Amino acid sequence: MSHILCKTSDIEDPGSKGFELKIKRKMQSIFVVHKDREFFAYYNDCPHTGATLEWQEDQFLDLDKALIQCATHDALFIINSGECIAGPCVGEALTSLPLSVIDDTLHLDI
Ligand code: FES
Repeated sequence: MSHILCKTSDIEDPGSKGFELKIKRKMQSIFVVHKDREFFAYYNDCPHTGATLEWQEDQFLDLDKALIQCATHDALFIINSGECIAGPCVGEALTSLPLSVIDDTLHLDI
């Protein structure tokens, strides 16, 4: 099963974008980060309380666009691993999702 998310050019580098889609018969909130020509997808679900992470629509990164930031209590996560390195859930991690780039389109392989 695969979901087409968007064109690769729809997300700035560095940048991020949120999506709502049905995964395993449930509506789920996920997001994709584009950084250094690579893409990473995670459930939009902070390991601290389960809150969504963005501070504004499609804004999942800190001001330097170097890390993923949770808007609720400012946890910081490494973009390419989802590992939390600062804040209340240090050592925990975002749940990643498999992505592939086919031609210039992002596909979620789930
Ligand atoms: S809910 Fe994300 S840091 Fe608390």
